[in-house]
Amino acid sequence: MNRNQEHVPTRRRFIKTSVGVLGALSAGRLLAFEDRPNFDRCPECSAISDYKLPQTTQLSASVDQFDVGGGQLSWGYAYNESFPGPVLEAYRGSNVRIRFQNFLDDHTTVHWHGMVVPHAVDGHPLNVVLPGEDFIYHFPIVQRACLNWYHPHPHEMTGEQVNLGLAGPFIIRDEEESMLELPVGSYEVPLIIRDAKFDSQGNLRYSAGASGFFGDVPLANGKQNAALSIDTEVYRFRILNGCNARVWRLALSNGAAFTLIGNDGGLLEFPVDLTEIEFGPGERLDLLVDFRNASVGNQFRFVDLDENWDLIEFTVTNSVQPVFSVPGPTDRLSVISPLVNPVRTREFTFEGHSRINGLEYDMNRIDFEVPFAETELWRFITGGNGPHPVHVHGASFQVLSRSGGRNMLFPWESGWKDTVLVGDGETVEVLTRFDVYDDQVYLMHCHLLEHEDNGMMTNFRVLPR
Ligand code: C2O
Ligand code: CU
Ligand code: CU
Repeated sequence: MNRNQEHVPTRRRFIKTSVGVLGALSAGRLLAFEDRPNFDRCPECSAISDYKLPQTTQLSASVDQFDVGGGQLSWGYAYNESFPGPVLEAYRGSNVRIRFQNFLDDHTTVHWHGMVVPHAVDGHPLNVVLPGEDFIYHFPIVQRACLNWYHPHPHEMTGEQVNLGLAGPFIIRDEEESMLELPVGSYEVPLIIRDAKFDSQGNLRYSAGASGFFGDVPLANGKQNAALSIDTEVYRFRILNGCNARVWRLALSNGAAFTLIGNDGGLLEFPVDLTEIEFGPGERLDLLVDFRNASVGNQFRFVDLDENWDLIEFTVTNSVQPVFSVPGPTDRLSVISPLVNPVRTREFTFEGHSRINGLEYDMNRIDFEVPFAETELWRFITGGNGPHPVHVHGASFQVLSRSGGRNMLFPWESGWKDTVLVGDGETVEVLTRFDVYDDQVYLMHCHLLEHEDNGMMTNFRVLPR
């Protein structure tokens, strides 16, 4: 399959077999959605409560049919027959072992976006899993608590495969975060928000030009007109912009403030109250929303201010004695040591729809080499056709400055990031340091998936220590 091609999955090409332990523990947590009641395919899941992955978790990709809201059945791609894929969770310090099976007609890979893993299990386009084959992704969890996500990363087909349904949340937990006693259980809601297009039969349809895929309906956790019943409590929303190309401008329908406590790389140092957040494909947000003073029957929505879309509707159905609270602006959440004194600077110009520093991606070409454990300043510059959400594999970075365009940094860009939105006419500087795995090939690319598939991507090698 090639770039910018239309593709509608139409058939099931394998016989469903029982999948055993369905992608870890909390597959059931996406079930908070009322129109998604039966996740009875995984009786074991509910029994797993300690957030540890089972010995070997099975993950499959297949052509499947699923309910995209209101009973509309759609053909698409699914991880473990679920759209989006199941929530995977693991503790820092544990080992993840996932046996991935590819039941698609095309080759694919699984990339663990935001997770620092060796090249061999990073889902690099060179390391394809062929149709009918399997591969074991095995790696330790070496980083702090945060929300990551897994998705395909095959050469020139990432946009299509993600768009047709392959994406899921991967939550890392740790001690530091647990001590904060943030909302848990049904009060912690992973939320993948993306846009979609459907054909006349109601199946997901991927068609995109060079400037990217733009759908005409929003989906929250795979549902149109998503709705969630809530209690009078504080909720923690773990939000991913799962769009191929669309930038969201997220707000509550009543204009109320919510509290930002974290982003791509985990907790911020201090909470920040905000009424709107602009975030691009691949970026994550960790938000607390306070519904403690609401009354039964009240309704709230997350909306996108640019399209004026309702993303998900909350209805208060239950009055409870709240147990969670919202930290104030001076309550420290975490300590983040700033990266300082970069030893060198690199410049990357994102040009048109397909080039970085004049070059289109070549899987076999290493474009630059980065010494192990040295702090560097990377300067991302747009040459038009933005915005470009720039993403780096193999380490998180800290955003240092933005000049031109919006000309400022936003609260959701503090702390640790792995994806930063670079608007047209903007220069964004980040500090980065690859100090976990040496002698590895990683990717840096635009996460507007059609730009990525068209070649706006580069390989670099972290040198042996
Ligand atoms: Cu989310 Cu290189 O990808
Ligand atoms: Cu990534
Ligand atoms: Cu781009």
